[in-house]
Amino acid sequence: MNIFVNEENKQFHLTNGKISYIFNVLKNGSLGHLYFGKSIKNRDDFSHFLRTDIPTAASCHFFQDDPAYSLETVNHEYPVYGKGDFRDAAIELETKDGRIGNGYVFKDYKISHGKPKFNGLPATYANEKEASTITVQLVDESTHTNLYLSYTIFQHYPVITRSVALENVGTDDVYIKKIMSSSIDFPDSDYKMIHLAGTWSRERHIEAHDLRPGVQSIASIRGASSHHHNPFIALKRKTATEHENEVYGFNFVYSSNFLAQVEVDHYEVARVMVGIHPHQFRWKLAANECFQAPEVVMVYSEKGLNGMSQSFHDLYRNHLISEPWKTVERPILINNWEATYFDFDEEKLVRIAESARELGIELFVLDDGWFGKRNDDTSSLGDWYADEEKLPKGLPSLAKKVNDLGMQFGLWFEPEMINPNSQLYQSHSEWVVGRREEHLTFGRNQLVLDFSREEVVQYLFEKMRDIIIKTQLSYIKWDMNRNITDAFSVALKIDQQGEFFHRYILGVYALYEKLTTEFPNVLFESCAGGGGRFDPGMFYYAPQAWASDNTDAVERLKIQYGTSLVYPIYSIGSHVSASPNHQTLRATSLEMRANTAYFGTFGYELNPLELNEEERSIIKDQIRLYTTHRSLIRDGDFYRLLSPFEQNETAWMIVSKDKKEALVGYYKVLTTPNSKKQQILSLKGLDDDVLYTIEETKQSFCGDELMYRGLPLSIEFNGVNSNKAERGGDYQSVVYFLKGK
Ligand code: DGJ
Repeated sequence: MNIFVNEENKQFHLTNGKISYIFNVLKNGSLGHLYFGKSIKNRDDFSHFLRTDIPTAASCHFFQDDPAYSLETVNHEYPVYGKGDFRDAAIELETKDGRIGNGYVFKDYKISHGKPKFNGLPATYANEKEASTITVQLVDESTHTNLYLSYTIFQHYPVITRSVALENVGTDDVYIKKIMSSSIDFPDSDYKMIHLAGTWSRERHIEAHDLRPGVQSIASIRGASSHHHNPFIALKRKTATEHENEVYGFNFVYSSNFLAQVEVDHYEVARVMVGIHPHQFRWKLAANECFQAPEVVMVYSEKGLNGMSQSFHDLYRNHLISEPWKTVERPILINNWEATYFDFDEEKLVRIAESARELGIELFVLDDGWFGKRNDDTSSLGDWYADEEKLPKGLPSLAKKVNDLGMQFGLWFEPEMINPNSQLYQSHSEWVVGRREEHLTFGRNQLVLDFSREEVVQYLFEKMRDIIIKTQLSYIKWDMNRNITDAFSVALKIDQQGEFFHRYILGVYALYEKLTTEFPNVLFESCAGGGGRFDPGMFYYAPQAWASDNTDAVERLKIQYGTSLVYPIYSIGSHVSASPNHQTLRATSLEMRANTAYFGTFGYELNPLELNEEERSIIKDQIRLYTTHRSLIRDGDFYRLLSPFEQNETAWMIVSKDKKEALVGYYKVLTTPNSKKQQILSLKGLDDDVLYTIEETKQSFCGDELMYRGLPLSIEFNGVNSNKAERGGDYQSVVYFLKGK
């Protein structure tokens, strides 16, 4: 890992033997982008990477009348508007005297080992041996602002993280209208853009389309990263596959409004920008203040999409998720939501917990409905004390009974929300987001609490802290069931209302920070009406996230497959629920449901009291299987083999880092009569020379056979082979465990 600086021609080369990232100071003093890709040897001069074949079109504008230098054709590192580059700029300011800026000019740089911590914002972290950071200072004398562009290169990963800070060194206020966290100009646009789109109940479906001239973008202006677009895009070479050729991935470590866009210009340069969405954003930066924008993680892969995913997974497991959860195994949980909804009392819950414990389940989670007077979703959010009718002996009594069974106890909260029908609203209606004299927009009968106010965050902290201590809580599911409308804070001055969304999410982060600092051993699972805030910002505090309210095993194939593009599977909350499924009414076998849920953080979301003896015995086996392979699922390399977005079959596998063990999942949604396809599955990531035994069939094959010839799958019913068939009908699935020696 190294950062080479050529002082003479002001070139900077970040490399770690896997990737190189090169930029320089251009003739006008701004930063030019020279290269991002596979590692190349360092040289004294990379200026030949600069585009010099400037078309002398009438539309070209030249810097200081130099026909050899146009800001329109050069590749930028952090573009500004108004000096001859007519593409979207990375930054936009508003100043008292109407100046928009004369352009940022290189002033200085600083290299440090490790990675400086961000205050109040989630970000990847690294110690002195694991990463190096260069921060380049640029100045704009016309707006009296300094821009700090930070780049971190990690020793072991093909990853650069970027972030930006802006400092006001003048005497007047400056308003930031746009500040993107990263911008790169790729020299050509021969890529497909990949992203994850969806909505409630079908989150993170993979979308891909060719880049075309103009701007293409994904975004959220909902006050959450959203179900609809994950803060992730990738540029994939058209020849790239799941396992081969070049892919660049970009993921924003942020949980609120974002914009990720690619602008293909008239010379087919592709400008990729990621940052806070400028819509409604206006940040007042007073003299001597500094604004820190969130971080973007950029991954280069020469091993296709799967290579990109493995880099994201490794980075997030080792440098994003908080310390105890990197190695601690997460408990198998049962959540009462779909078992009872709002209809429960202590006795019913204890019976569910007892029954779950007999199955081997380790954590009992009490979901929505335990507080205030909440019998449906119209009341009580904000009243964080036990519902006296349902739990007359209080939460500590229930928690103790659960603990006495040898189980951990977990609780659902929705701290950011309030129902007008609540005691909190009676005493603090001014804490609601929006102008009270206006008609506020409701979502699920609830309003949003103003987390941009410190006293609101502190109030929630005290309430939650009290409950955590009194119940000796082990786990919290933090839900957020609506997006933000009426964005307005009575506590902010009128010229600061544009700060609301960012201040809100800083408040959410602040509450997470307070809670996780005081209770590092409480496991947090983030949730937002299912997977509406499934982003790296959340993972910094909560190492797992509820992927979707849709627990249908068939739907989960797509949701979990898409999610795995960026996020480690051990962060994906996935449960076995009842059949027919509550979201789709589809009936699938207990086996199919578990075979899908194993590839995540495993749990159950059903009423164990309604299971028959056979089902109970199957579940005991499932829990044994998951417990045996939990560390493999946590630490292994994940490979996607067959995509549910492309066919009727899905397959994936996880291989231990030492390649001695693997768990393979194969799923076929609809049966195909007298199938012509040979029932073999080509595996990945194994050791050519290791002999693997398939636990389920006791057959043994060498790694090379399994990868290049394929694993023989169980025999499917073909209409006449009933004496031999091992599976048939719709919704088939098999899981194989491979042990090498
Ligand atoms: C939405 C979540 O995604 C569900 O799992 C459940 O917790 C409900 N909210 C409860 O209101």
